[in-house]
Amino acid sequence: MRFSTFIALAALFNPTRSYGAIYSLSDEVCGPGFYGFFEWEAIEDPTHGRVTYVDKPTSIHQNLTYSTSDTFILRTDFDTVLDPNGPGRNSVRIRSKKTYTSHVAVFDVRHIPQGCGTWPAIWETLEATWPNGGEIDIVEGANDQGTNQATLHTSPGCVMPTNRTMTGTPTYDTCDATLNFNAGCGVKFPTASSFGPAFNTNGGGWYAMERSPTYFKVWFWSRDDFDVPSDVAHTRPFVNPDAWGTPAAYFPSTSCDFSTYFNAHNIIINLSLCGDWAGSTYSQGTGCPSTCVDYVNYNASAFTDAYFDFALIRVYQDSRNNHYSRRKATF
Ligand SMILES: *[C@@H]1O[C@H](CO)[C@@H](O)[C@H](O)[C@H]1NC(C)=O
Ligand SMILES: *[C@@H]1O[C@H](CO)[C@@H](O)[C@H](O)[C@H]1NC(C)=O
Ligand SMILES: *[C@@H]1O[C@H](CO)[C@@H](O)[C@H](O)[C@H]1NC(C)=O
Ligand SMILES: *[C@@H]1O[C@H](CO)[C@@H](O)[C@H](O)[C@H]1NC(C)=O
Repeated sequence: MRFSTFIALAALFNPTRSYGAIYSLSDEVCGPGFYGFFEWEAIEDPTHGRVTYVDKPTSIHQNLTYSTSDTFILRTDFDTVLDPNGPGRNSVRIRSKKTYTSHVAVFDVRHIPQGCGTWPAIWETLEATWPNGGEIDIVEGANDQGTNQATLHTSPGCVMPTNRTMTGTPTYDTCDATLNFNAGCGVKFPTASSFGPAFNTNGGGWYAMERSPTYFKVWFWSRDDFDVPSDVAHTRPFVNPDAWGTPAAYFPSTSCDFSTYFNAHNIIINLSLCGDWAGSTYSQGTGCPSTCVDYVNYNASAFTDAYFDFALIRVYQDSRNNHYSRRKATF
């Protein structure tokens, strides 16, 4: 092989070079593998949504989760008219059994929940110490509005620089969860197809998040995007996010020491209805009828498209932190 090729390969597979790192495959989750990788959180919605999170047997029995060899569906109930004085519409919230520090997570998603009142999220946090262990929201939005938003939420003191190398547009610079009604420091993605009906009509796409000791980066590629890196579109033993181009959202540690603000995180997927975000913005230019809670209570069939369809989740960990065991979360 040519010497320059050798140098390039050596750099690619040398796990001791400084960031950017090469991350090696730790978990590949697909189809029925979701049932082993995640645990079901049958909890009251902490964000005051009009939902009831059910346990695993109930979600299977009511077909709110469903898998085939290459599909995992997670949805809300769409055929029960609710008693307005009773509990909210059944939905599902799942949390990975494992926690992660430096890692890359790739979400290959075919469909995200859409419709008035919906508030889907793919995110990471450590619930037990929230917000002291920090939170990163990778996929989030409400009422089909706008593009995807990635956001950090932290304890007081963590701030993002205004001028950052990313394609998205920042909202607040302070990540302090006690300010701005816990809006956090968000970044709106530039791509229309990164959220809601536009995401779904394109057949979905890939979200990827890299967490290093000094930054978070989040990318999005639509299903028909020619630029999707091959180590995102396909399962490889390693990924090299340094080659993925400018992220949609970039959160550096410049004014936010990560060892102070972030612990190891679980991956969480939840689908809420109304609540703090979707409820408060329900009538703001959305065209959504009546009130959010009435819509959820009485319009069951409006939630037919309120579902996630996952092709895969892959988690890669920093090759230098070999404190994990490699496993494949399938049956
Ligand atoms: C359960 O949901 C899946 C996916 O939406 C669907 O294909 C299947 O027909 C449903 N099964 C029943 C019994 O409704
Ligand atoms: C933003 O950062 C870039 C790169 O560091 C720099 O060239 C540019 O002048 C900065 N812009 C502002 C408004 O500070
Ligand atoms: C779900 O997602 C968001 C992540 O943005 C989180 O802040 C919120 O507490 C969760 N809400 C529900 C409904 O579980
Ligand atoms: C149910 O949905 C229909 C069609 O969007 C709408 O006209 C009606 O106001 C909704 N009802 C409630 C109670 O939200």
